[in-house]
Amino acid sequence: MTERTLAIIKPDAVERHLAGKIVQRIEDSGFQIRAMRLVRMSKRDAEGFYAVHRDRPFFKSLTELMSSGPAIVMALEAPDAIKKWRTLMGVTDPAKADPGTLRKEFGQSIERNATHGSDAPHTAAYEIGYFFAGIELI
Ligand code: CMP
Repeated sequence: MTERTLAIIKPDAVERHLAGKIVQRIEDSGFQIRAMRLVRMSKRDAEGFYAVHRDRPFFKSLTELMSSGPAIVMALEAPDAIKKWRTLMGVTDPAKADPGTLRKEFGQSIERNATHGSDAPHTAAYEIGYFFAGIELI
């Protein structure tokens, strides 16, 4: 089933000039990019995006990182896009991610892990809507 997911190239990866390589991997994997934008989130924007994690010990530093510089947000489409993008990224902690995954290759720590992806259809709908209006999805 064709599905959409929200992907973020996080500020740590944009700052390290890895965005081009990551977009290339996305295209090589067969995703259609339905929307894409460079965004500089405010602390409040990042807190809203990661609201489900607000009680976690890493919430403050995660939202500081996410608002520390520009990120690239994308709506990706493919059959089974949510799982497909999570497989391409690898698990949250780059140290535990499989070889060949984006987080293994480009992540520096569990927090500075280069990319984000939605984890379920309802979060994908919320997260795509957080950054893109319907008219921007092509
Ligand atoms: P992401 O997939 O964007 O979802 C939540 C983010 O919180 C995660 O990637 C990491 O960047 C960060 N994160 C998750 N677990 C931890 C942790 N134990 N310590 C620090 N940051 C974490």
